[in-house]
Amino acid sequence: MIGVFRLGHRLPRDERITTHVALTARALGASYMAYSGTHDPGMEESVQKVVERWGGDFKVFYVPRPMKYLKELTVPIVHLTMYGAPFQEKMEEIKGFKDMVVVVGGEKVPGEVYQISHNISIGNQPHSEVAALAIFLYELTGGKYLYAKRPGAKIEVIPSENKKLIKIDGEE
Ligand SMILES: C[S@@+](CC[C@H](N)C(=O)[O-])C[C@H]1O[C@@H](n2cnc3c(N)ncnc32)[C@H](O)[C@@H]1O
Repeated sequence: MIGVFRLGHRLPRDERITTHVALTARALGASYMAYSGTHDPGMEESVQKVVERWGGDFKVFYVPRPMKYLKELTVPIVHLTMYGAPFQEKMEEIKGFKDMVVVVGGEKVPGEVYQISHNISIGNQPHSEVAALAIFLYELTGGKYLYAKRPGAKIEVIPSENKKLIKIDGEE
């Protein structure tokens, strides 16, 4: 199981980007997004609405004490940071982890996170938690969840090169 941990959510500044971290995690095969910083029921609800319509059982939950939570994990932690080791050199090892939590930051990441994690870079230029997560999960999974059917979906896209087609409750 792949989990994602988004550190240091700030309101109003991170409302959209944290939602996008969650939707990217879900689309690329993670099972949940935990987050710390400011508790944001509105962001949780907007992700939950996507799950209700588009299926699956992706979860979002708030963690008030992130370092305690991360230190008590019994699965490997992969922290995405521009300071980390190049992902191409570490992916084979990481693919061997059965379960893991992938940490992305926002505001300054506490030094302790570096000490308890595999620190992995997606290039060593600064960009975005969404971009870093998408590239990492794509490399990890080979993209196998991108077109996967989600149980309980009320809406499904019918892929088309020249039209916007969807099924709602199984009807085109
Ligand atoms: C606004 S960026 C801050 C960049 C930060 N100085 C860092 O350590 O990567 C917020 C988050 O995006 C992710 N990120 C940005 N650039 C990255 C990169 N090149 N490789 C991996 N993760 C990156 C990290 O998780 C980071 O905490």
